[in-house]
Amino acid sequence: MTDTIADLVRRLTLEEKASLCVGADFWHTTAIPRFKIPSLTLSDGPHGLRKSVDGGPGLSQSLPATCFPSAAGLASTWNRDLIESVGIALGEECQAESIDVLLGPAVNIKRSPLGGRNFEYFSEDPYLSSEMASRYIRGVQSQGVGTSLKHFAANNQEHRRMTTDTVVDERTLHEIYLASFESAVKSSAPWTMMSAYNRLNGTFCSENLWLLSGVLRDRWGYEGAIISDWGAVDSRVAGLRAGLDLEMPGPHHGAAASVVEAVRRGDLKESQVDASVARLLELIFKAVASRKWTEGVAYDYDVSGHHQLARRVAGESAVLLKNENHILPLTSAPSVAIIGALARQPRYQGGGSSHVQPTNLENLWDEFTKTRRVPSNATYASGYSLDTDSVDEILIAEAKDTASRADIAILCVGLPERMESEGYDRKHLHLPANQEALITALAEVQPNLVVVLSNGAPIEMPWIDRTAAVLECYLGGQGGGGAMADILLGIVNPSGKLAETFPATLSQNPSYLNFPGEADRVEYRENLFVGYRYYDAKELTPLFPFGYGLSYTQFEYRDLVLDRTEATDAESVGVSMVVKNCGQVAGHEIVQLYVSDQQAPVKRPPRELKGFQKVFLQPGEEATVSFHLDKRAFSYYDVGRSAWHVETGDFTIAIGKSSREIVLSQVIHVVSTDPPATPRQVTRNTTVGDLLRNPVTAPVIQGLIARFSQATGMAEDLVDPSNLAAAMLLDLPLRALVIFSQGYMDEEQLAGLIYQLNAGVRSE
Ligand code: BGC
Repeated sequence: MTDTIADLVRRLTLEEKASLCVGADFWHTTAIPRFKIPSLTLSDGPHGLRKSVDGGPGLSQSLPATCFPSAAGLASTWNRDLIESVGIALGEECQAESIDVLLGPAVNIKRSPLGGRNFEYFSEDPYLSSEMASRYIRGVQSQGVGTSLKHFAANNQEHRRMTTDTVVDERTLHEIYLASFESAVKSSAPWTMMSAYNRLNGTFCSENLWLLSGVLRDRWGYEGAIISDWGAVDSRVAGLRAGLDLEMPGPHHGAAASVVEAVRRGDLKESQVDASVARLLELIFKAVASRKWTEGVAYDYDVSGHHQLARRVAGESAVLLKNENHILPLTSAPSVAIIGALARQPRYQGGGSSHVQPTNLENLWDEFTKTRRVPSNATYASGYSLDTDSVDEILIAEAKDTASRADIAILCVGLPERMESEGYDRKHLHLPANQEALITALAEVQPNLVVVLSNGAPIEMPWIDRTAAVLECYLGGQGGGGAMADILLGIVNPSGKLAETFPATLSQNPSYLNFPGEADRVEYRENLFVGYRYYDAKELTPLFPFGYGLSYTQFEYRDLVLDRTEATDAESVGVSMVVKNCGQVAGHEIVQLYVSDQQAPVKRPPRELKGFQKVFLQPGEEATVSFHLDKRAFSYYDVGRSAWHVETGDFTIAIGKSSREIVLSQVIHVVSTDPPATPRQVTRNTTVGDLLRNPVTAPVIQGLIARFSQATGMAEDLVDPSNLAAAMLLDLPLRALVIFSQGYMDEEQLAGLIYQLNAGVRSE
């Protein structure tokens, strides 16, 4: 605590301190005029600023701001620098609207493609998700505006999100759900963290001491302020005890009063209130000192520059999923029919608290037809209504007629906002029935059918074989329409790759049998096997794998070099390879690095993403791409040690164009520098195998086996591990030696042996 803050904390009354720990209204912290402590303004987040017009929730009305692609699209860029520029732009807009903290980014893992807010989240992979979040945070905060990394933690569904209990084992939590936050917290220090609505293993996240203080503050060293999701606090006092600094929104006089009473009753230590107040004051003073605006003097930003950035990001977000016979780009400018209501009424963002009022809005039809390269004879038919899912035969017939007269039909389909929003999950992975019917109908008359998708999360594509090309544009923000035109016309070469698996069917997804749980309980029974980790382990073929995406050019990978073939886990391993653009047009390539543990003593996914680089190459150009792998790249979370641990052994370093297209690989031997795990107490039921695996007890047991085999004449048998007797011996509990040694050992000797083994264990 700095002197000023410590001094202020001393001088504030208990009532004032309690009031600081609860919001003043929907978007403001409480001011204490007596000490000139001002109020901060917080606002959503994440892919654009949603400043409420009237100070209320503002879900339907907010001030205009640039609407960038939502996180599903941002992550498909795999472009760290670009995400940071989005962050910078967001930070500038916050300064322009006098916002101190932007409520984002959101990094919850996409456990099920049904998750209602998946469009707002980055990925099914924690490494990719955390890398994106890190640079977003860095960008926003470089402008003197705070972020709020949300929703901490394991808030992976909308169904009963304010009451449900997420039940998940410790290893899975650390490796998947917490990991998505962890490196962003450590590397970019978000000014605030937002605790989630749900319970985690029985306790509300906003009251969860293990989560907020144990993991976030003690282990990860987080020093910022923790604020609750809006309405997430059940008991303000329990929240303070757990380390939750600010309850939002306010006013909530009962909450402040309950804190005062609890301190007076002796149920809550005043020092806990003081610690939260100190963190809040730190935040308030930092934010105020970073303000670039002053009352009455506006701070401006480049509105059209931000729009152009949004369009560029949308161009990099799009993922080309299919492009038969290089039908795209449409460079030879044949006659084109543009079909689908979404071509003129774009779906460009998701519903709920992230909904932005854009400063400008492009649609594909306008952007496509105004581009010089296009013939003037582009035609249009809506094909379906966005207001209903019902099939309209008249609209379909008209669209069929329009499509059949053109050389190529571009069909815009996607999910209407009512199917994808905060507050509820999706029920299925299909497009609306009227859109699926339209695709089938057009395919009958037009073989050159290019499908352009606008959706925030995976859909099933039972119709894909009848199309020539599919371009996944996600929710592209206000420049999404222009970005679609740029890609279709070859002005932009698509370079996005999927940050999530598209399953062939919903039932293929690992969470299928346990989503969204029963009553107020959802058990993550698939454990670590989320997304590609599951499809790979089960050797399933999804519709499109994680990391997949096509380009208008081709890339060649070669010369994988590791700077060592053996390393300890304390050393960093340097990896490099060469990528060459061997096609005709310039383009970006995303090179992915996966690590596989060959000898883990615990179950591990077949491969995990541990590095990626995006490079831009002219035709014929090549570049060397480098990666550095540290201990974490080889580790799993060892629950016994309560720490990340590398098991000594061989690891494969695989370089891929996607998780399923591994092009280069090499093996490295990594040696653990961790001390051996503390052996457990030896009992009658400890197995011979466990004792042999433990370096402390192994010599005693080896000696015993040697004596035993000599006495029984089974020496050979017990040494050869493929031998039945040896195999059985390994799983034998010590107590069974008495019976099977046929008189060689009795109960008294067994007790002596156990005593001797425990003495050895204790002396370690
Ligand atoms: C959402 C948060 C959002 C907050 C404020 C909540 O319902 O879960 O993501 O920041 O509202 O609008």
